[in-house]
Amino acid sequence: VRKMTDLDLAGKRVLIREDLNVPIKGDQVTSDARLRACLPTIQAALDAGARVMLMSHLGRPTEGEPADEFSLAPVATHLGKLLNREVRLEKDYLDGSVEIADGEIVLLENVRYNKGEKKDDEALAKTYAALCDVYVMDAFGTAHRAQASTHGVARYAPTACAGPLLAGELDALEKALATPARPMLAIVGGSKVSTKLDVLTALSEKCDQLIVGGGIANTFIAAAGYNVGKSLHEADLIDQAKAFMAKVEIPLPSDVVVATEFSEQAEATVKPVDQVGDDEMILDIGPDTAQRFAELLENAGTILWNGPVGVFEIDQFGKGTETLARAIAASSAFSIAGGGDTLAAIDKYGVADDVSYISTGGGAFLEYVEGKQLPAVAALEAASR
Ligand code: 3PG
Repeated sequence: VRKMTDLDLAGKRVLIREDLNVPIKGDQVTSDARLRACLPTIQAALDAGARVMLMSHLGRPTEGEPADEFSLAPVATHLGKLLNREVRLEKDYLDGSVEIADGEIVLLENVRYNKGEKKDDEALAKTYAALCDVYVMDAFGTAHRAQASTHGVARYAPTACAGPLLAGELDALEKALATPARPMLAIVGGSKVSTKLDVLTALSEKCDQLIVGGGIANTFIAAAGYNVGKSLHEADLIDQAKAFMAKVEIPLPSDVVVATEFSEQAEATVKPVDQVGDDEMILDIGPDTAQRFAELLENAGTILWNGPVGVFEIDQFGKGTETLARAIAASSAFSIAGGGDTLAAIDKYGVADDVSYISTGGGAFLEYVEGKQLPAVAALEAASR
């Protein structure tokens, strides 16, 4: 696809679709990782002499009802501080024109306030296109949505291209999945096998080893014939788990951390995996298992990480995830991590600088790993022809 960095942007009106969908409390952004991730793109456009407009969705408001709680105002303020520049929030842009004063960046108010955004309405896409000379799709986190601001607009903009963040994400994912250095190891954590079936299917075909964690692991532990007590698991997916185990090496825990209740006060006990009691639930992998998995990570050529292996939000059930996070950081493998919980774990254990690539995508990251085509990328490909 055409890249922003290959175009002459001097004096042009450049409309950049970012994923500025960040958590907000009151009028404060509580995690700005996604905002920091798009700074290089914005800076590159400014340095190239562009007149910069940004657009994004925030949350899932009802279309046509611009509720204040979904306003991008806190994002404009926060971005302005990060960029040390005025970021002006523009609410009136549906007439297809926006004034951009010298030195300012304009942020268009939440695109999901607009009727037709989610159903990729043609007229709305044309309105976005009329605002710019160059449309830059840079929102990897929203690239799995075929919506007017991520997909339709690419067809009508005079020029459409991929921004550096999107291009970088695609390169990193390709490196991890299309041409992985071996052995390739994936960690898939989370609560349910049923929500990660497609990811597990795709990775079981690509990986040399697949580590499962959390409630997902409990279903595999049950499939291996062990009692999982009160642990979260899906009995109806035990056969499916067995089928995965026949396809790829899935190292299972030899010891686990259990408790009789799920709470911050719960007492954690380490047990061999074959001794879980009927009134107990598995909330983390045990220290021997964590050590064994850490050694696998150390020797890997490629690591793909999605999801924690325990209830890491509660300290006594976070040691497994912490050990693996540190092993990933210490490994010389090319490592890529994605998904909301995974990023929270990376933050908690302070290993962000030592993971090779941290994706800004949640759902988009998973869909890419599943082998699905991302509609926003397909639209750029079509527009580049
Ligand atoms: C995300 O947070 O995964 C993206 O911003 C997409 O948001 P959506 O699931 O509401 O489309």
